[in-house]
Amino acid sequence: MFRLLRQLDIAPDASQRALAQAIGVSLGRLNALLKQATDAGLVNIEDRNGPDKRARHTYAITARGAGEKNRLTTQFLSRKLAEYNALHSELTGSTSGITSISNRNTLMEHNLSPIPELFVSYDSAQKLKAEAGELISHDLTPRQICDLELLMNGGFNPLKGFLSEADYNGVVDNMRLTTGELWPMPITLDVSEDFAASLEAGQDIALRDQEGVILATMTVTDNWTPNKAHEAEKVFGADDDAHPAVNYLHNQAGKVYLGGPITGIQQPVHYDFRGRRDTPNELRAYFRKMGWRKVVAFQTRNPLHRAHQELTFRAAREAQANLLIHPVVGLTKPGDVDHFTRVRCYEAVLDKYPQSTTSMSLLNLAMRMAGPREAVWHGLIRKNHGCTHFIVGRDHAGPGKNSAGEDFYGAYDAQDLFREHQEEMGIEMVDFKHMVWVAERAQYEAIDEIEDKDNVTILNISGTELRRRLSEGLEIPEWFSFPEVVKELRRTKPPRSKQGFSVFFTGFSGSGKSTIANALMVKLMEMGGRPVTLLDGDIVRKNLSSELGFSKEHRDLNIRRIGYVASEITKNGGIAICAPIAPYATTRRAVREDIEAFGAFIEVHVATSIEECERRDRKGLYKLAREGKIKEFTGISDPYDVPANPELSVETENVEVDNCAHQVILKLESMGLIAAE
Ligand code: PPS
Repeated sequence: MFRLLRQLDIAPDASQRALAQAIGVSLGRLNALLKQATDAGLVNIEDRNGPDKRARHTYAITARGAGEKNRLTTQFLSRKLAEYNALHSELTGSTSGITSISNRNTLMEHNLSPIPELFVSYDSAQKLKAEAGELISHDLTPRQICDLELLMNGGFNPLKGFLSEADYNGVVDNMRLTTGELWPMPITLDVSEDFAASLEAGQDIALRDQEGVILATMTVTDNWTPNKAHEAEKVFGADDDAHPAVNYLHNQAGKVYLGGPITGIQQPVHYDFRGRRDTPNELRAYFRKMGWRKVVAFQTRNPLHRAHQELTFRAAREAQANLLIHPVVGLTKPGDVDHFTRVRCYEAVLDKYPQSTTSMSLLNLAMRMAGPREAVWHGLIRKNHGCTHFIVGRDHAGPGKNSAGEDFYGAYDAQDLFREHQEEMGIEMVDFKHMVWVAERAQYEAIDEIEDKDNVTILNISGTELRRRLSEGLEIPEWFSFPEVVKELRRTKPPRSKQGFSVFFTGFSGSGKSTIANALMVKLMEMGGRPVTLLDGDIVRKNLSSELGFSKEHRDLNIRRIGYVASEITKNGGIAICAPIAPYATTRRAVREDIEAFGAFIEVHVATSIEECERRDRKGLYKLAREGKIKEFTGISDPYDVPANPELSVETENVEVDNCAHQVILKLESMGLIAAE
C-alpha cells in the first residue's frame, strides 16, 4: 500500500500497466490493492475516456491518502533505520547514533537530514486543487496562514496538522502530545460555531488564503468547544486580556476548534523579501552546502542594535558555531516596528557581520508572546530549521505588563523552562543576561559579570525610551545603535510633530462640533506642513454614508467608516478632523485603536448640555424630535455615552468658538504634535 500511494503521488496520471510495473506487482494484485485503497477513501478512480482500453482509468491520491502516505513513510523509514542500526552494530561493534524518525527530537542533534514536510507532489497538488472545488472552504485568518505555512514546511514538526482535541488537552495541560512528544503551544484551527456546525466528522475541507487561493486540505477529525479561560491560565499564565494572546483568544479567535491532518498543496504566497525566506529544508540544505555543522539561531522581533550584535557575536563564539539571524516577520506584538522597516535595518546590520560565518533568514511565525512556553516553542522551531543552538536572553518573548501593572513572567523564567527541557529538545540554549554599555571601557558587558559596578558608568536605553526619543526627535547615541539603523527608524517613525494624527470631536447634535472643527481646520492650515481633512458628520453622511439611517447598527457603520478614512489619512502623515455625534463608547474605542496603530488620536468631547443644544436648535431638529417626527434622536430618544477619559473636554456655553479651537491647539502642542520648525 505504501508503494502504491507513493507512486500515485509521484505520477498520478500513469496507466495501470505502468503503475503495476513501477511498484513491482501483477495487474491482478494491483487491482486488489486499488480496490482496497478506494474503499478506504485513499484513492480516487476516474474515467479517462481515451481510446486505449488499458489506460481507461486515472488514479489519484486523495487528501486522506496523502496523510496515510505520510504515516506509512515514517513507518517505512523507521524500519529501514532499525535494519541499518542492526547492521552498523554487527559490522562496527558500536551503535550508529542515529535515532528513529518517529523520535526526531534526538535525530535533530545534527542538522544534516531533511525534515518531513506535509506537501504532496506537484502533480497530485494540481489534481487536489481541481477536486477541492467541491469541498467546503475555510478562509484562513492571517495567524492561521502563518501556522499552516510552518505546519506544511516542517517548521512545526512533529505536528501533522491542526491539533486534535486529545493533543490539545495534552499540550495545554502538560506541554505534551498524545505520543508523549514535547510541544508547548496549542496550534489550533479556530472557526465560528456556524461553520463548525456545518461539518460532519471525517469531512475534508479546503483551507484557503484571504484571496481564496487553496493552500491545503484538512480531514476534520475533531470539532470541539475549548475552555478558553483554562487555555489562557495554563498556556499564558493568566486569564488576563492585557496579554496579547489572551486578548486574541477571547476577542478574535472563533469559539470552536477543528483538528485533523493537513495535506499541503502550496506555500502561502509572499511578495516581499522572497530571497530572504527559507523553509526548514532550504536552510538545512544551505548549512550542508556551507559545511556548517553547528548553527546558533537568534530570534528577534525588534530592530538590531549594538547590544544585540555583541550578544550574537558572543553566543557564536561561546558555542563555536555559525550564526543565523532568524527574525520573525509573521505576526509579532501589536505596536512593534513593521517588518518592512525591520528587514531594511537587518540588512544594514548584516554588513557588520563576517559574511562567511553569519546568515539571515526570515521566519513567517505568528508569535504568541508566551514567554517561557514560547521560548521552548521557538527552540523546537529552530531545531527543525537545522539549528543546533538557540539564544535565549532576558524576558524572551515577554508580553509586557498585566492589568495590575506587573510583569507576566519573571525575567529569566524562559531560560529556566528551556534548560529543563533542552536535552529532550535536541537543541542547546545559549543563555544571556542583560547586556549593558560600560562607558569607561567603551564596550558591552553582561550586567551580572560586571564586578566593579559601583565604579563604572553603566548605560542602557530601554525599548520604551528608544520609542520616546524617536517620537520626540531626540538624539540616539552611537554607542546604542548603528547610524544606518537609526536613519531607517527615523524615516519610518518621524518625530510626533511630523507624524499624522486625528482629532475626533464627539457631542450632541448642535453642540458646536462642526463650528469648532472648522475653526481648528483653518488654524492648522494656516500653520502649514501637513494636509488637513475635515470629516464632518453631515459631509460624511452625504458623501460616504448616504444610505445609512440612525439605528445603532448604522451609526456604528458610519463611525467605523470615518475611522477607516481617518486612519488612512493618519498613516500617510496627514491630519484628520472628525466631527460626528459618535454616541457609543465602544465604537469610539474601536476607532481609537484603528488610528493609534499609525499616529495619535485626540478625543475632544464638546460638552454642551442637551438643554443648551435644544435651546439653540439651529436646524430645528430638536423640535421635530420632541414632536416624534424624527425617531432615535440622540439625547432625546436615543442614548449618548459621555466620554470617560477624553484627551480634552470643551465647554461652549459663554466661550468663544475661537477660544475652543485654541484649547485644542494647546493640547496638540502639549502632546508634541505641533512644534516650532
Ligand atoms: S452618528 O450617530 O455619529 O452617526 O450621527 P452623525 O452622522 O454625526 O449625525 C449627523 C447629523 O444628522 C442629523 N440627524 C440626527 N442626529 C441624531 N439623531 C438622529 N436621529 C438624527 N437624524 C438626523 C443631526 O443634525 C446630526 O447633526 P450634527 O449637528 O452635525 O451632529
